[in-house]
Amino acid sequence: MAVETGRVGAAVRGEFPIFESATYLNSCSQGALSHRVREAVEEWLSGWDANGAEWDFWVERNEAFRTAVAGLLHARADDVAVTTSVSQGVSALVSALPLDRERNRIVISEYEFPTVGQIAHAQELRGAEVVHVRPGPEGSIDADRFADAIDQRTALVCCTTVSYRSGHRHDVAAIAAAAHEAGALVLADSYQACGAVELDVGALGADAVTGGTVKYLLGTAGLGFMWVRPELRRSLLPTQTGWFADEDIFAMSIADYSPHASARRFDSGTPPVPALYAGVAGLEVLAATGVPAVEAHVSSLVDRLLDGLDELGAAVATPREPAARGPLVCIRSTDVPSLVAALAAERIVTSMRDESLRVAFHLYNVEDDVDRLLDALGRHRALLA
Ligand SMILES: Cc1ncc(COP(=O)(O)O)c(C=O)c1O
Repeated sequence: MAVETGRVGAAVRGEFPIFESATYLNSCSQGALSHRVREAVEEWLSGWDANGAEWDFWVERNEAFRTAVAGLLHARADDVAVTTSVSQGVSALVSALPLDRERNRIVISEYEFPTVGQIAHAQELRGAEVVHVRPGPEGSIDADRFADAIDQRTALVCCTTVSYRSGHRHDVAAIAAAAHEAGALVLADSYQACGAVELDVGALGADAVTGGTVKYLLGTAGLGFMWVRPELRRSLLPTQTGWFADEDIFAMSIADYSPHASARRFDSGTPPVPALYAGVAGLEVLAATGVPAVEAHVSSLVDRLLDGLDELGAAVATPREPAARGPLVCIRSTDVPSLVAALAAERIVTSMRDESLRVAFHLYNVEDDVDRLLDALGRHRALLA
């Protein structure tokens, strides 16, 4: 099912059956299922039926995923850990930080996903102090706000690339510059960006970049990744670990701890095999279009939506400038559960966070999806703030 590079919208939509019955605008929660990903999961089941444990093929899928993520991030496979979730990767990373008396602070943005905040606060049991960076009056958290919160005691700064709850995009490079000046590491959880926003880890400037396959990478749950800056690796010894992180998993040793020299030291136990089949296939679908083409397409749909929302006089939490947003638009509502339900009754699939309706676009969305949503929002205008 090869698709030409750059094909978006109507040209790829037929590969995603959900559009036969719904206007799907919820890729910030879960990407739509493609024929290719379904086939890949079926291949996993068929192989299991035919051969039982396909150990070699599982390991090959794990490495195929690592390599595909490296391509996505403009990185080397050796610098990518395959994780079962963002939580697992971040926990392994944080477990490698000494958090001693000189450097015990973790700075987190108010826009982090709960797992990052909860892992940070869990380190209070190890003597950490967690500092929250809050948004300014207009809702964004600019690099200066982070710089004010960072000092010589800061061990780690967490600045999600795109906020799951407001759609803001952080200036990760500027935040990383402030953190590095103070000797702190930077984690950019990029789950709401990867696959819909072109990410080059070199330019991004963070020391660790996380994401997963459930959303814009078009796979399923149970699989994620963490890129770690290679120069740092040797000094990071995760105490949250597992046998797939060992320098030689087949040594089967219970006598020592010898983490792999590559970013594989942040891997854990048996790889999530079904999710790997789906994850590799999802990345193939995405690579056939190319993230730059997805990003340009999504940005034009966001522009169209923002223009229409202006006409409705709606309040939007997400900033307008393209550099300050991603594929997610958050629209303020007076009663967001009722609004999501009213749209769902018309087979328009969205989601909610805080008091906002969340609308997210991907390669398969078309202008008609935007117009259908705007038409429905016009009829439910009373539910918009
Ligand atoms: C920004 C962000 N980070 C992390 C996650 C999920 O983390 P995990 O893979 O640990 O479930 C999500 C969504 O589920 C997210 O939106």
